[in-house]
Amino acid sequence: MSTTQQPTKTILRLHLPTDPRWVNIAEKNIEDILVDHAYCEQKAATSAISLIVKYPDKTRLVEEMTDLVAEEWSHFERVLEQLKKRGYGLGRNRPDEYVVELSKHIRKGNKRERQLMDHLLVNALIEARSCERFKLLWKNIQDEELQKFYYELMVSEAGHYVSFVKLAKEYMPAAEVDARLNELLEIEANIIRSLEPRPDRMH
Ligand SMILES: [Fe+2]
Ligand SMILES: [Fe+2]
Repeated sequence: MSTTQQPTKTILRLHLPTDPRWVNIAEKNIEDILVDHAYCEQKAATSAISLIVKYPDKTRLVEEMTDLVAEEWSHFERVLEQLKKRGYGLGRNRPDEYVVELSKHIRKGNKRERQLMDHLLVNALIEARSCERFKLLWKNIQDEELQKFYYELMVSEAGHYVSFVKLAKEYMPAAEVDARLNELLEIEANIIRSLEPRPDRMH
């Protein structure tokens, strides 16, 4: 188990750990958490599709996002399965303040590559935070089937985080990507700090 615990510490580089109270309140609201999680997976797939639509000329991006859509969609299917097993429906989508706030830091304007870098790095951070929360759920939740499920998702989303950062370096100089990633890590920590840990949200 020790090697599997490393990614969230050394690779993700999140500046602020999740409030440990979150996992306890989340477990008591597993229906809400699963519903919110289902929508997170759906949004991850949608976001990858929108990148393909916006940057069809970036071959590597198109290829990687195509694979990612399939993976995120399979995650969505797996969350639906967990909901069904417990007799829950999909429920309604809720606004995701965390993603809305973070997305405000994707700089607009005519610098197309810079905008792409910001978009990829924001997606990377959403993956990183999701991964960190899956780790908390995996390590603390009582339900054994969900433990295994969250462990697998933790590994998968850690891989996505790494891929998004790598992909940003395909299109912008590595030093610039690292500098922007550091800025966004700080912004992300401030957003997390400003949001109350909610019992019904993944973020
Ligand atoms: Fe996912
Ligand atoms: Fe992902």
